[in-house]
Amino acid sequence: MSRVLLTGGTGYIGSHTAVSLLENGHDVVVIDNLVNSREDSIRAVEKLMNAKIPLYIGDLRDEELLERIFRENEIDAVIHFAGLKAVSESVYKPLEYYQNNLDSTLVLIREMLKNGVTRLVFSSSATVYDPANDPERVEGMPTGNCTCPYGWSKFMIEQIIRDCCHAYPQLSAIMLRYFNPVGAHPSGVIGENPQGIPNNLMPYIQQVAVGKLDHLNIFGNDYETKDGTCVRDYIHVCDLADAHVKAFDYLLKNDSCCLEINIGSGHGVSVMELVTAFEKANDMKLPYQFAPRRAGDLPIFFANADRARELLGFETHRSVEDMCRDAFNYQQKAQKQ
Ligand code: NAD
Ligand code: UFG
Repeated sequence: MSRVLLTGGTGYIGSHTAVSLLENGHDVVVIDNLVNSREDSIRAVEKLMNAKIPLYIGDLRDEELLERIFRENEIDAVIHFAGLKAVSESVYKPLEYYQNNLDSTLVLIREMLKNGVTRLVFSSSATVYDPANDPERVEGMPTGNCTCPYGWSKFMIEQIIRDCCHAYPQLSAIMLRYFNPVGAHPSGVIGENPQGIPNNLMPYIQQVAVGKLDHLNIFGNDYETKDGTCVRDYIHVCDLADAHVKAFDYLLKNDSCCLEINIGSGHGVSVMELVTAFEKANDMKLPYQFAPRRAGDLPIFFANADRARELLGFETHRSVEDMCRDAFNYQQKAQKQ
């Protein structure tokens, strides 16, 4: 049995990954400062999985706390989710974003090396790709020209990790470039419920579906796409969680690697198709209207998923309907609390 430290583990993707790791016989330890999550999520995972999860509430930049975690737990790998992630907020709070996301990664890697922990999986993003690329994103394509400080922070952290892998060959790392994670665990006990008005499509749809918001605005219906609305690669958060287990397994078997890997379904789905799938999966009508394009949106991008399949043996299993059903189920439960 192996033990994995999840930074940002009480968050949306971290809590789902905790479930997948436990399902696959691994132990997890979590550090989170709860800046964008609540302790409840990890307690819900404990209940769901009948497991005990040590939770350290504190900032990743606190070196003494990290020392303590590594001293008190025999850690085989770190999955680094912790970070600030709101695209628009990062535009007017760049210092906060760079300081939090970069400093926490630097402290983490230094403490890992000091404590002989050499396997790292990092939550990167499809946003690191240069927007000028072809819509089907392949790992070797140019990165950069990011549209916001959040995106640049992922771009910079990837470079930091590559430089560290070069300088400290004992370190192995996999940078997972997520596409658009959506949905929730089918139990409905963990999921994504952002504070205030959501920016992302699925959380917005979820809140319209439970009547918390009046209608969905679809940003643009005049793009050169199949139905005029933007196309993205949505991935069920439980599939994404499973990808982390595969990445961890790969690191257990392969020393001295440093890899970027796309994690998406490999298929593009339009906003209109997602709305229709949501209506079908939940047998309801979703009020929506077309609105002007949102600044900065690309018409189409989706993952080339070959490397994930070839190196990790990873493929998605959950459908768009599964994503919609599980997202609604979670939102209904969250609404009642
Ligand atoms: P989330 O906000 O739910 O989880 C991130 C967690 O990190 C939160 O619980 C937060 O409290 C914690 N955190 C932030 N800064 C911290 C610090 N300095 N010390 C300790 N804890 C800290 O976000 P998520 O959706 O679960 O995303 C996880 C990771 O995946 C993030 O790095 C995010 O940028 C990346 N990512 C997310 C998406 C997405 O659409 N959700 C897409 C691509 C990449
Ligand atoms: N959309 C709407 N109405 C809404 C919200 C979104 O029509 O209320 C549309 C957007 O215009 C876009 C699509 O739904 O066409 C998806 O939008 P999201 O905000 O859900 O996702 P993005 O693809 O814009 O953003 C995602 C991640 C970011 C990441 C970015 C680039 O959320 O973290 O991909 O990779 F930076």
